This record gives sequence, C-alpha cells and structure tokens, in this order.
Amino acid sequence: MTRDWYERAGVRTGPRRRPGAGLRDELDAGRLYFPPDLVPYHDHPLVQALPARRRDELLARHLFHYLTFTAHFETRVVNRATERIAGGRGGVETGTDVRLDAYRIYCDEGYHSLYSLDVVDQISTATGIAPLPYAFDPFLRRLDATGARAFPESPVLAQLLQVVVFETLITGILSDIPPDDRVLTVVRDIVRDHARDEGWHHAFFSRFFRELWAQQSAADRARIARCAPARHVEGAACRSLAMPGAVESDDGPAAFGLKLINAATSNPGHGHERAGGVAFLFDPETARPRVLAEAGWLSAARTAAYTVVSLTHLGPRRWDAMTLVGCGTLARAHIDLAARAFPGLARLHLHDLAPPRAEALADRDRDPPTIPPPPAPASARG
Ligand SMILES: [Fe+2]
Ligand SMILES: [Fe+2]
Repeated sequence: MTRDWYERAGVRTGPRRRPGAGLRDELDAGRLYFPPDLVPYHDHPLVQALPARRRDELLARHLFHYLTFTAHFETRVVNRATERIAGGRGGVETGTDVRLDAYRIYCDEGYHSLYSLDVVDQISTATGIAPLPYAFDPFLRRLDATGARAFPESPVLAQLLQVVVFETLITGILSDIPPDDRVLTVVRDIVRDHARDEGWHHAFFSRFFRELWAQQSAADRARIARCAPARHVEGAACRSLAMPGAVESDDGPAAFGLKLINAATSNPGHGHERAGGVAFLFDPETARPRVLAEAGWLSAARTAAYTVVSLTHLGPRRWDAMTLVGCGTLARAHIDLAARAFPGLARLHLHDLAPPRAEALADRDRDPPTIPPPPAPASARG
C-alpha cells in the first residue's frame, strides 16, 4: 500500500467526476440515479403508483442521502479513529510506516467526503432536484452509545474497533453499482473510485487489527471477541453457514436436510481445507436426523458435479485441456470428476496465489491426470 499510494490513490490521481452535458441525455435514455433494488421502499405499492417523474426524484434523493451519509461518515467516524492511529494516540503501539499509511487513509477519506458532496451539488444544480436536510448526529449518537456499552472505560478502543469493522466490510453498494449499466455514469464512476481506495483500506485495517489484538489484555480480548464479527487472532475471516434444504419428489416423500459448513480463510496456509462441516438428512415423518455425513467432501463433489453437468450440456464438443484457478479441495474434486466424465482430458493448467499449492496438485496429477476410485461413502447412518 505504501509503495503505490502516490501513484494510485484517488485523491492523488483521480479526475474530478462531472455529470456534464451528458447527464440530460442519460436521463432521457432512462438511466437511473440509483439502482431501485437497493432502495428498500421502491417496490412499495404507494411508490409504484407514483408518476415516473416522482419515482425518479425519489431515486435521486436516495442517492443524495447515500452520498451525504458517506460525506459525514468518512470524516466523523472513519477519520476520527484513523487520526488516532496516525497521530500515535490510539493506544496501540505501531511503527511509523503504519502511522504514515493512516495519514494516507485520512486524506483518502476526506477526498471521498469531498467528491460525495460535490456530486450531490452538481446533480441537484443540473436537475433542480434539491437534497433534503440531513442529520447525521442521531446515527453517531447510536454508534457511540453502542461503543460505550461494550467498552465503558475505553471509548477510543471502541472507535478503533468500529472502524476496523466498517473498513473491512465491502458493502453491496460499492460492489454492485459500478457494473450496473442502468445507473448514471457519474454515479458509477465515483462509486468505482471509492471502491478502489477501499480495497487498500481493507488490507491496512486487517493488518492493523492484528497489531491491536496482540497488545490487548486477556480480559479485553474476551470483550472484543464478543463484539467483533467472527475473525481470529491472525485476522482471518471465519464464517459459519447453516443451509436447510428440501428436494421434492413426484413419487415419494420430499427429502429434507441441512448443511452446516464453516470456513476460515487462514486454513489453507496451515495445511487445512478452507471449509468443513456436517450435513444432515431428516426423516420426512418424524423430522429426526437420520443421516449425519461429513460435508466438506459432499460440498466439493456437488460443486464439481455442477461444472461437469454444465460442461456436458453446454461445453464444446471436443476439448482436452482444463484450467483451474485455485488449487485446493475444489480443484481436486473438479479434476477427479472431470477425468472420469471426460476421458479425453489430457492436460491441466494450474494456477494458485500460493505456488506451492499449484505444484503439489501438479505432482499429484502429473501425466496423465490420476483417476482415483470413487470415495467410499463417508456417512454414518443412524
Ligand atoms: Fe472511504
Ligand atoms: Fe476507507
């Protein structure tokens, strides 16, 4: 991050985004101020009954609301804590390199506030749609009250943790709007600009959290763990998914079950499979669990089967090589299944961010791809 900031940060190199003369043409062509599916009330019958012009105004005001919130949030929440880190006043010992990066982020966030309000101003001036008054204080009061409840004696720690969480989340807005060609170009451009900077911020705050965690007492770690999203001492994200499901049948009872699959992003680095868990099948009459099966293999086999079925029906008629991006459990499951389904498969191209993983898989499947026997059933039936 340090090395590239002067060449890549939006505040250093990005252009000022202007809707310009093309705004009217885009609006006449039906472009939207904001994606309606990200506006919770847009589908309400009362909103749908409004004339199209009024619905457009509501989308514009939702955009203004989002951008005005962003302008306040960056300076009053993110930079409140970031300045603590930059100034060495956050209660966490860091190197100068960390403090310099925090000042860079401070500049980024100030710039995000600036262009958020700038675009509100330009669009409202060009369209005559005035933004409504906006009050950020109630949000800030609730945020601070939550922090004070969790860390009554450490308000600064609460602020740092809140920013670690906010800055390591990628919101649907940041990821969904840039590719959405229904939306005005200027809106997509500033959201794309913002998302680009936030990718760097994510990396910084993930690293910073590790330093913060290492310096906490056991009691504070326990308090933090109760507040933070599942994330362990190395800063890796952990998740737990419980997915109930049913398969209907024309000639018998439906099958009901549940897959519980957990994962930690640091597992592969320690030689473990990233995800693992258990799957249940339930008795359709009594609802009692009847089958308990290991879910990691089932999950990988299901994903690979989906690829093989897609290739069978939609793929080219003749092919002999397969490229795999990522060389973990899913890659192995794909090779094993594809080698059985497509005997012509003769070559594999392998890539992994961790080259040793690609080399290990290449060693396993060198010339020709191995075709292991089908695995024995792994379920314990009860
Ligand atoms: Fe930002
Ligand atoms: Fe940020």
